[in-house]
Amino acid sequence: MSLVVITDSDLGEGVEEEVLEAAGHEVRRGAGRTAADVVDAAAGAEALIVQWAPITAEILAELPSLRFVSRLGIGVDMVDLDAATAHGVAVANTPEYCIDEVVAHTLAFVLAATRGIVQHDRALRAGGWAPIATYPGAARPSQRTVAVVGLGRIGARVATQLAALGFRVLGVDPFADAPDGAEPAALDDALATADIVTLHLPLTAATRHLLDGAAFARMRPGAALVNTCRGGLVDEAALLAALADGRLAGAYLDVFESEPLPATSPLRTADRVVLSAHAAWYSPAALAELPRSAAAQVVDFLAGRTVPSIVNPAYVTKAPDLEEGTWTTN
Ligand SMILES: NC(=O)c1ccc[n+]([C@@H]2O[C@H](COP(=O)([O-])OP(=O)(O)OC[C@H]3O[C@@H](n4cnc5c(N)ncnc54)[C@H](O)[C@@H]3O)[C@@H](O)[C@H]2O)c1
Repeated sequence: MSLVVITDSDLGEGVEEEVLEAAGHEVRRGAGRTAADVVDAAAGAEALIVQWAPITAEILAELPSLRFVSRLGIGVDMVDLDAATAHGVAVANTPEYCIDEVVAHTLAFVLAATRGIVQHDRALRAGGWAPIATYPGAARPSQRTVAVVGLGRIGARVATQLAALGFRVLGVDPFADAPDGAEPAALDDALATADIVTLHLPLTAATRHLLDGAAFARMRPGAALVNTCRGGLVDEAALLAALADGRLAGAYLDVFESEPLPATSPLRTADRVVLSAHAAWYSPAALAELPRSAAAQVVDFLAGRTVPSIVNPAYVTKAPDLEEGTWTTN
């Protein structure tokens, strides 16, 4: 029996307990996302299930019995992966639970940017009736170019489905081939060419503020940004400036540098901005699958079974039945 601690989750309680207790493990829920909260709750834990709590090098140093972190979600940007590897802690995400949902949310944003759906809705509710003036930039998909940055599970499907809808698609990913229907492109060329840019790459130290003031300056005047990925990929101050000076025609955002989006954020009132509340992942089916998958892979890891979704395979296993100094490489 191992202790498994759920550091934080706003997805409800019970599913992880059911899965983990059925396998004979003890489950404890933490009370918050600060370092002190996590260290207090996680003392003695062999595995953590983490939603948003940052798992830093300092926290990992305080948790010598920890062997596995299971992320309730796809992005692992809240975990210091290098420190986890150095501490012999495997980190896994839940890679499959919401691919269809995020792809659909992204297509909805791209189509909304192409056809002005939200602007028309707002105009009619305000008493208007102006089929052309409400959204003069409405376009024919085959006359629009979309740059898809990041061609992994989500981006590759976004690219393929946009191509099927008739868009010209540029695929940007230094580590993956462009799927059928997408033309491979370098980021700078794609920014200079695309009418719409959509982001689907991990947030890391190397990709933080990928879209900064210089990147927005390279984009076509009148282009739109779609971000269903991570807010930290975009310098929000530079985005607001690009919207204010008219270079960007629109921003369709599900994710933000600070979440929940502060009530005072200028994005909430900016013109030509369409927002959702980090909801691209959500459907009842995805919500049901996520905690079950995150807990099931804890059970597998603790039983010594292969966990395919480990994102730092170079970690060194701390197997409990081995003496220190005889750890094995996984
Ligand atoms: N809004 C939501 O609800 C929601 C839900 C799920 C996932 N996400 C986000 O979506 C992201 C993508 O998910 P995924 O399942 O497609 O991930 P993935 O790991 O399958 O794909 C990421 C791709 O990005 C590429 N990449 C890495 N660095 C790059 C760079 N500098 N330029 C271009 N491409 C680069 C990788 O080669 C990979 O192909 C996640 O990291 C997560 O942050 C958001």
